[in-house]
Amino acid sequence: MVQTSVSSSHNDLSRAAEIIQHGGVVGMPTETVYGLAADATNAEAVAQIFAVKRRPYFDPLIVHVANLEQAERWAEFDDVSRQLARALWPGPLTLVLPRRRLPVGEDGQEIADLVSSGLDTVALRAPDHPLAQAVIRLSDRPLAAPSANRFGALSPTTADAVIAQLGDDVPLVLDGGPARVGLESTVLRTQPEPLVLRPGGISVEQLRDLLPGVPIALSASPAADAGLALEAPGMLASHYAPNVPLVLREGDWPVAADIARLAFALRSPDQPHQADPILPSGGPTEVLSGDMLSAAAGLFAALRRLQDAPGVRRIVTELVPDHGLGRAINDRLRRAAGLG
Ligand code: TXA
Ligand code: MG
Repeated sequence: MVQTSVSSSHNDLSRAAEIIQHGGVVGMPTETVYGLAADATNAEAVAQIFAVKRRPYFDPLIVHVANLEQAERWAEFDDVSRQLARALWPGPLTLVLPRRRLPVGEDGQEIADLVSSGLDTVALRAPDHPLAQAVIRLSDRPLAAPSANRFGALSPTTADAVIAQLGDDVPLVLDGGPARVGLESTVLRTQPEPLVLRPGGISVEQLRDLLPGVPIALSASPAADAGLALEAPGMLASHYAPNVPLVLREGDWPVAADIARLAFALRSPDQPHQADPILPSGGPTEVLSGDMLSAAAGLFAALRRLQDAPGVRRIVTELVPDHGLGRAINDRLRRAAGLG
């Protein structure tokens, strides 16, 4: 067991960079969720990510870079992806693009095949968090970084949640405060046609506004659409799951001490949504209120509090209106409920 330290002083930033340059893994905040970062060009370092997460090798990872210029070093950008990166990076958009194989004579570095599970594409994003940007800059490496949770579990939105899950296996977790977005990035493939493989922090409405006249589809079967020979669990049902069963509410809220409840009381100009009254004397209850942004930001932390509450054997939740960020919230809730 290693002693994990949590901090983000200058010393720790240089230590993070050093660990990464020496092929280690580091817990790192991003604006979406915390990531488990390693040098994407170092196959053994990337293998460590899979080992720590206990993640199957056929689920490809996202590579984090500082900006579009760095991204173009690793992938072939088309006009649409370039336009989106210019508008939305740094930010919660991941672009899946053809990998760029280097002509002989360049510096010889390549993204490890393990990162993209042998696919001809690579997923890239520029995170909008000063500590993530600092680690990229100081380590001078593209960073492979999946969410910093064990495979299939809830994504962490605080440094403490990373420590709770992976503390024994990660030497350093940088603390950048609670993740601002709270949901993973939107994963978009642009070729042959734009297709959202995973809804996330950038809504499909935002993408459509940026690309008037360009059809953008939402994938019903992301793994198949990504051309993955084996299914990609990050996109499948029963992922992002709490460690007790989660079910979608049908009818009234249950009233039982061992059933936790996750409700939404959202305000939005076009979709006034009043939470149904929740009767007391049930199990622990979390109500996510405010607008869709704050509900998304609080989602995983609320689920974590409920799963960790003493005596809870099941969590019941409801869905939110299926537009904007609501689609990403519903996607995570359906998957956690095993409904894909
Ligand atoms: O917000 C995020 O994206 C966070 C933070 C840490 O950046 N990262 C994250 O990574 O959620 P991960 O590994 O948990 O999810 C990566 C998703 C998976 O659904 C994976 O299947 C998909 O991206 N993906 C990665 N590379 C791909 C590729 N070449 N083709 C299709 N899908 C890909
Ligand atoms: Mg994940």
